[in-house]
Amino acid sequence: MSPTVERAGVSDAQYFRNFTRVDSVEKTAQGLSAELHGERLRVDVVRADVVRFAISRGGVFDEYPSHAVCVDPLAAAVPFTVEETTGDDGRVVRLRTSGLVVTVGMAPFRLDVHRPDGSPVAVGADGAYAILNDAFVIRRRCRGADAIYGLGEKTGPLNRRGRDYSLWNVDVLDPRASGEFAAARAQTDPRADPTSTEFDPYYVSIPFFYHLDAASGTMAGSFVDNPYRARYDFSGPEQYSIRFDGGQYVEYVFAGPRMPDILAAYTWLTGRIAIPPVWSLGYQQCRWFAYRQADVEALAHRHRQEQIPCDGLWLDIEHMDGYRVFTWDPQRFPDPAAMLSRLADAGYRLVTIVDPGIKHDPGYRVFDEAVEADLLCRTEGGGVFVGQVWPGDTAFPDFTLPETRTWWGQLTAEQVRSGVSGIWNDMNEPATGAIDPQAMLFGRGRHSHARFHNQYALLMAMATVEGMRTAAPDRRPFVLSRAGSPGIQRYAANWMGDNLSRWDHLAMSMPMAAGLGLSGQAFVGADVGGFMGDTNPELFLRWMQYGVLTPFCRNHSAIQHVDQYAWSFGPVMANLVREAVRLRYRLIPYLYAAFVEASRTGAPVQRPLVFDHQDDPLARDVDDEYLFGPDLLVAPVLAAGMTDRRVYLPAGTWVDWYDGTVLSGPGFVTAATPMDRIPLYARGGAVIPMWPHAPEHADGYQPRSTELHVVVPAGDGTHTSVLVEDDGTTIAAEGGAVRRTVFTLTRTGRVVTVHARTSGDGYPEFVREAFVLVIRGAHPHEVRVDGVDHRVTGARVRFTNHGGDFDATFTV
Ligand code: GLC
Repeated sequence: MSPTVERAGVSDAQYFRNFTRVDSVEKTAQGLSAELHGERLRVDVVRADVVRFAISRGGVFDEYPSHAVCVDPLAAAVPFTVEETTGDDGRVVRLRTSGLVVTVGMAPFRLDVHRPDGSPVAVGADGAYAILNDAFVIRRRCRGADAIYGLGEKTGPLNRRGRDYSLWNVDVLDPRASGEFAAARAQTDPRADPTSTEFDPYYVSIPFFYHLDAASGTMAGSFVDNPYRARYDFSGPEQYSIRFDGGQYVEYVFAGPRMPDILAAYTWLTGRIAIPPVWSLGYQQCRWFAYRQADVEALAHRHRQEQIPCDGLWLDIEHMDGYRVFTWDPQRFPDPAAMLSRLADAGYRLVTIVDPGIKHDPGYRVFDEAVEADLLCRTEGGGVFVGQVWPGDTAFPDFTLPETRTWWGQLTAEQVRSGVSGIWNDMNEPATGAIDPQAMLFGRGRHSHARFHNQYALLMAMATVEGMRTAAPDRRPFVLSRAGSPGIQRYAANWMGDNLSRWDHLAMSMPMAAGLGLSGQAFVGADVGGFMGDTNPELFLRWMQYGVLTPFCRNHSAIQHVDQYAWSFGPVMANLVREAVRLRYRLIPYLYAAFVEASRTGAPVQRPLVFDHQDDPLARDVDDEYLFGPDLLVAPVLAAGMTDRRVYLPAGTWVDWYDGTVLSGPGFVTAATPMDRIPLYARGGAVIPMWPHAPEHADGYQPRSTELHVVVPAGDGTHTSVLVEDDGTTIAAEGGAVRRTVFTLTRTGRVVTVHARTSGDGYPEFVREAFVLVIRGAHPHEVRVDGVDHRVTGARVRFTNHGGDFDATFTV
């Protein structure tokens, strides 16, 4: 048997030893403690709807299995009761909270969770828990019609039922990556082809998923807090299995039953995104290209000249001196400080790439410092681990050591002090090129590679953010990461790595972004236009039209491919691209509110229909459209020459963004897709805040008026929406320097009311003096605002507002 076969975890399944009986159970302050097979099982009540299971290894519990969880999960005292019964299924101990019931069967052993109404949350199948050496597996019942969501960044359909996945961060286009999947499988399987839309594994590994029980319509969640290589297999007809190759079994089980509540609980445990600086929500221009300083400034100028709004310019690895991180190529960039200051004057933020790999180069300051302080990953023999990345021989900082993170933070702080606004962490799986990463050890040789591989990017992002905060304590940091694990959302956004300039990769990025969003990472985007391969005018335009309606919008392409700047395909295309980018900028107030919401509840910004429409069976498998924020439904164009497409509208009123047609779901519509637009619909009941014009850049933009697009629902109901105004760059908003307005739109018969209620202390840059209501989906003649009638002209009503409450009413 070859080692690769064993790695896939397929052939050794028969040798696992099942845990079959419990010897004793006792009640503890937090739940239960049981003895089984010489180990201890702990059942801890985390919240009324969340329980944690842990089984010791060698009699010991690992209390800190990873860096994922950032709260004390047992801080709250949650009421629960314990009872014991003996019946047909033998002796059984039951733990009950108001939201769930845990059943521990003594002989045979079982560990099940239901809701108080009897609906299943997590019900063990045969061999519910089994071990083999360092590996363990859990098996649970799952019916064929059930759906599975989550697992972060994965290819293929959003619904993971019917497939199996590996969790092991890889540099997807590295030739070694395909070996990860191909082990023990047919080489012809598309999932072994890194350029397919089925490839597995990917850059990010998140062992968290949702199980939708089709019979009851309820959803449950599972998060195994274990960073080791894992395999999730949802292909069995009546069960799923989860196998980890090492570490301890520590699982949080979420009773839900609603998806948003499960995500809120998961992101409470592993953290939520920080509110990003507003410039990072603007358009980002990136390219792997050997730019010179003057080229970068010319690019900045060209965007302004072409009137393409743009906030971020990005520099890839060619800006460095021989790919040495934290350096500038002195020929290409003779005076970076001057360049950075001129770019700042023109309203641009500059982001530089910082890979973890340090050129193995005695005499290079960063390498020397790392060697001197013993901060590099070592091998079993004690030497510095050397991989092959861009600079050739490459050493890797051991980010598991707090002193390494502090040192890296200082290097980052210098970079930020020099005028760089954001840091782009790439190759942080970690990618080691042609060299097997397994020999890379952590903690000065004490910890295996397997324990920290998947956490490497998280630890690097921690160090990077620490440095950004040191350099600019009042600024919101911005980090973009390629790899990740649970908790990465606390520190960084993720882009989805090296895609191809192909239509199927455009389409793939929708369920992939949704999978990340459902797994706590709301700040995501794909390389717009496609990274590898030459894009073409139509693909580029359609990708831009879609990309502007994704959380992170960055145009990026690989070296040696055609230009794909906003203007690269001639004036007709440039006009269409400009309109797309302008739409994004006008929507920034709406987008920003969605990000703030993500930071409060974890709710994804790019979200699949199932998130808000869990009870709609047709919404559960939609991969080719999504909601952008809570209230905009986007249906991109997915093929060349497409002149119309089918769009599924879930329940409710949907108003066509362009022509105002009022549609009602659930149902399918056929939408025209002329070259100047992709189908976009606003949810009835929403109040969508927009800037009246697209500024050149979002950073520092404070308009005097803001539009409120009031989307009139066809039927009675109430819906809330949010506007969040702050300075967009500092952390002052966290201390209350913000104006938050909650709009409650209610329709009762023919009467529509909008109540606006504000909170927050406001902030010095606030200059808004008016709102403009833009009525969509109805044609009232008058709107009464705070008792004063206003005539509606061109569907618009303008009234003075300096950030206070208002009440508006009209009849339709
Ligand atoms: C990796 C990154 C890509 C970057 C390239 C060069 O392939 O994923 O975005 O352009 O390295 O740094």
